[in-house]
Amino acid sequence: MKKVTCTAPVNIAVIKYWGKRNEKLILPINSSLSVTLHQDQLKTTTTVAASREFTEDRIWLNGKEDNINHPRLQSCLREIRRLARKRRSSGGHGGVSRILNDKVHICSVNNFPTAAGLASSAAGYACLVLYLSVYTLAKLYGVEGELSEIARQGSGSACRSMYGGFVQWLMGDRADGKDSLAQQVEAESHWPDLRILILVASAEKKHVGSTAGMQTSVETSPLLKFRAESVVPGRMEEMIEAIRKKDFEAFGQLTMKDSNQFHATCLDTYPPIFYLNQVSQRIISLVHRYNGHYGQTKVAYSFDAGPNAVIFTLEPTLNEFVEVVKRCFPPEANGDPYLKGLPVGPAPLSQELLSAVETDVCPGGICYMIVTQPGPGPAESADLSLDLLGPDGLPKPSA
Ligand code: DP6
Repeated sequence: MKKVTCTAPVNIAVIKYWGKRNEKLILPINSSLSVTLHQDQLKTTTTVAASREFTEDRIWLNGKEDNINHPRLQSCLREIRRLARKRRSSGGHGGVSRILNDKVHICSVNNFPTAAGLASSAAGYACLVLYLSVYTLAKLYGVEGELSEIARQGSGSACRSMYGGFVQWLMGDRADGKDSLAQQVEAESHWPDLRILILVASAEKKHVGSTAGMQTSVETSPLLKFRAESVVPGRMEEMIEAIRKKDFEAFGQLTMKDSNQFHATCLDTYPPIFYLNQVSQRIISLVHRYNGHYGQTKVAYSFDAGPNAVIFTLEPTLNEFVEVVKRCFPPEANGDPYLKGLPVGPAPLSQELLSAVETDVCPGGICYMIVTQPGPGPAESADLSLDLLGPDGLPKPSA
């Protein structure tokens, strides 16, 4: 049996991908840009094993066996095996031939609750696993090179998790998608002060998955067409410039405007799609009141296909803003930790600030927060304790 274990991060788009021009190849109607979150707080670990003893391909997600026949997973498996064969016939990796015909077992776990709604595809976090499986299989088969093309076929947004730091997914214009690729804009070390706060607003499952949602938007929303053609190209340039210069004012404003426009295209979809709930709306107004108090953009929000908020801020603002969130959304005493991730210190709040922001207290509106920062891309793990499959090729009890 040959085994490889890899870990991969989650990414959050600040210029959103919404809409495909080719459903099968997963080619987007606009470019997008994301920040890769640190794996110390949010990571997916996947072990892939190949063995002559296995009688079929199998996959386990968070401890439960899942359907290996999912079309996207099948297409990823097919593509990666095709690449490995091609490489073998051109005289590449010798050891690969032995395992290429073997069946594989894939086992994957998250270190964060799926309820955090961070992998927004219809198949839940399976998309992230798909792409991580591609990465891990590539290591197993000794295939290097351009993987984001295959990863994209697992889930569009997941291809941006191929790199750390700040990543753009260039839409490309070729019909075969060969130029629709993820590319690193800046490494994770570029903006050391940047902090990211995930406010988990609700554990309820969202109603419309992103795959189906964006399809309806492409079919019915004139605003989405306008956005893709006339807004995003300029915004991508401005966003890259803001990141390069570490200009938080520009970065924050663009992030909020782009999230708002994405949700506006959802409302412009017919029938309309609502991802934001009342808690999301309260967070939006809290952020604007907080920034209004200071007369500058000190925090910025972004929302994907669900009600949870992702807040961007800089280290000097973190403690105070967390304190403000706690005041406005006091935790319900259910024993669960309210704050997870990077440490947050106490911060005294001035009376002026309190009266500017504390207009509307909503106990229990936020279940918990995860504090994190930009982080590195996927990596193969040499740590054997992370290996999820036992000597029999089945998930270990802990997986
Ligand atoms: C709102 O990547 O989940 O998170 O390609 O159909 O799997 P599929 O969709 P998916 O869409 C993510 C949409 C988004 C915005 C983003 O991450 O850019």
